[in-house]
Amino acid sequence: MHKQLRIGLIGAGGIGRHLAWQLRPLSEAKLVGVYDANTELKHRAAAELETHAYTSFKALLADPELDACILATPPHTHFRLGMQILRSGKHLFCEKPLALKLSHCDALLQAAQEAGRVLMVGHVLRLFPLFWQSKQWLQEGVIGEPISVHLQRRGFELNLFKEGWRADPKQSGGVLLEMNVHELDYLRWLFGEFQVVAAQGAQPYPEPNFVQHWHALLRFENGIVGAIECSIIDRLGGYTVRIVGTEGTLEHSGFSGFIRYKRHAGQEVQLTPEEVGTPEPFLWELRSFVRAILYEEPLPYDGYDGRMAVANALAVLKRIHTPLKKAQV
Ligand SMILES: NC(=O)c1ccc[n+]([C@@H]2O[C@H](COP(=O)([O-])OP(=O)(O)OC[C@H]3O[C@@H](n4cnc5c(N)ncnc54)[C@H](O)[C@@H]3O)[C@@H](O)[C@H]2O)c1
Repeated sequence: MHKQLRIGLIGAGGIGRHLAWQLRPLSEAKLVGVYDANTELKHRAAAELETHAYTSFKALLADPELDACILATPPHTHFRLGMQILRSGKHLFCEKPLALKLSHCDALLQAAQEAGRVLMVGHVLRLFPLFWQSKQWLQEGVIGEPISVHLQRRGFELNLFKEGWRADPKQSGGVLLEMNVHELDYLRWLFGEFQVVAAQGAQPYPEPNFVQHWHALLRFENGIVGAIECSIIDRLGGYTVRIVGTEGTLEHSGFSGFIRYKRHAGQEVQLTPEEVGTPEPFLWELRSFVRAILYEEPLPYDGYDGRMAVANALAVLKRIHTPLKKAQV
């Protein structure tokens, strides 16, 4: 019998249950139980997932059968619950964003280190086929040396952000921390550390009470120039990433569509997500978490990546909210 990691789920909402389902085909992992602050939801999830419902978070932490936790509660709870999970000696898969304050991210990283436990943050965007393929092609040098990147994530998600914890910036961190940490993590994965040179944000509607559309200019330490535009109020929507290099251009359309590149000389090459053929992203992510613990395999992204995504989201917000000096004429 091979090793099996015993996992508890905290937060049985949308993503928590989706992650729990992804554990099913993994013979190296077993869902041991679930806890949710909403008792009715907890029992429904336990029945659906054919698992045990813990009476309390404390009871879950005290369970010696448990090796690791998936924390899929709203962002403002990640710090408090995550610290307790790590201090109880359990490995932690924490949904993004790692926390809403940088000091909280650092405390979580330190707690993981002190406990000698794995901390992974759910930056799953990297494992979606077109995002993954863009990194592979860049590493293969298909467009030479990258010069510039322009990412646009636009959609009409105003109603989603008007409801529940997402509407409260103290609980969700607003759109930058709740959603666009994914894009900021992806860009850093592609090209390394960057500074936020300038940023602007707009909040045309009173609810939710945070920036709903924003732009930023980025300067990567390796000289690449970047621009990012994200929106939850754009009716036409669309996802575009375009990277210009010394020998060609690469483009993709995010979660669906295609990825393609064209070199200065040569045919255009194009792939669909199916042709990229990578595993289901959430399954792949959890398998990596499990294998990092059981076999010390490298994680595709870790707690530090989660920390840097938060740091970069906060840096954009700081730029957005810093008043401009009066123009000198
Ligand atoms: N990686 C991704 O693609 C992705 C997608 C969606 C959500 N998320 C992240 O996952 C987290 C949860 O999002 P969601 O959409 O599943 O939210 P949700 O509202 O559907 O579920 C959250 C659940 O947490 C429970 N909860 C709240 N406080 C709790 C506490 N103190 N203890 C135990 N349970 C508690 C709620 O009752 C609820 O059932 C967020 O951090 C979000 O950013 C990530």
